[in-house]
Amino acid sequence: MASAPRMARASVSPAVTAEFSSDVVVGLSHAGQKELPSKYLYDEVGSALFDVICLLPEYGLSRAGMRLLQRDSHEIVSLLPAPVLVAELGSGSGQKTRLLLQALSKRQRVNYYPIDISGSALSRCQQEIGQMDRVSIVGFESAYLDGLQEVAARRRDEERILVLFLGSTIGNFDRPAGDQFLREVRRILSEGDALLLATDLEKPIEQLLLAYDDPAGVTAAFNLNLLARINRELGADFDLRQFEHTARYDECERRVEMHLRSKVWQRVTIQAAAQRFYLREGETIWTESSHKYSPPAVVEMGERTGFRCAQQWFDAEWPFAQNLFFVV
Ligand code: TRP
Repeated sequence: MASAPRMARASVSPAVTAEFSSDVVVGLSHAGQKELPSKYLYDEVGSALFDVICLLPEYGLSRAGMRLLQRDSHEIVSLLPAPVLVAELGSGSGQKTRLLLQALSKRQRVNYYPIDISGSALSRCQQEIGQMDRVSIVGFESAYLDGLQEVAARRRDEERILVLFLGSTIGNFDRPAGDQFLREVRRILSEGDALLLATDLEKPIEQLLLAYDDPAGVTAAFNLNLLARINRELGADFDLRQFEHTARYDECERRVEMHLRSKVWQRVTIQAAAQRFYLREGETIWTESSHKYSPPAVVEMGERTGFRCAQQWFDAEWPFAQNLFFVV
């Protein structure tokens, strides 16, 4: 469904709440490691906290992505086929995208289609980009692949698609699931279409742990807000003060894992699901993983999933890459 230019804040529909509730129940019912899906971190409060994370000196990811697009947008555009429409997976704040669309709109009129499950993210993106000259924007409030399918159906003859996946969000998939996701993106695309993929790179462990557990506690608040959201939307009684945020690095998997650790033995009731859960002292709920890559590993990931890497751009300050792929 294409969304209207200025979206009113949708109240949470019963179907959405039911899905949230069942995802939470499934994750907390795991016999071993309890889990909560990371996509639920980004309600209105979570998105605002994430914006603050992006300002923290310890969290260099988003600034690195921004610097690269500031420096390299023109070169990226020069490598793209013409004409090209732009589909973005996860609209984010629109700030990085603006840089690329500016460069592209010097060459052609641009149809830009942000795809996001969050209506409020789409609204913010609309505000950032809606006023740009020679750029028209239509948001899709849907899951990435469903939205991309709809965008692909709107393509005119001769028009190529550039898919943007900029937040290093690919790193939040497990490696096999990341491959699977890229294969599905590939299946929707055709030869000559392009994918600009941002990836955070491997770096010293101390630097990574600070990025995901900053001393001011913003990341902790961001992670804990997931429990607060479950309280708000599902009538649960998580006592946030009895949990603490932890980040650890798994050297084998090359990923940072974010957890919420129960400080005490406790019981939690989720009214919407009529369910009760128990946490032991020290038991954790796993909320997100952020995988890190070496530059050749990114090229190989593309090759395994039906793409050829045309070029990689690296940031000098914070190891991070923008990678341009073409469908083969
Ligand atoms: N996609 C972001 C990342 O992997 C999300 C993120 C940043 C995050 N800090 C976090 C998720 C802390 C959970 C907890 O970098």
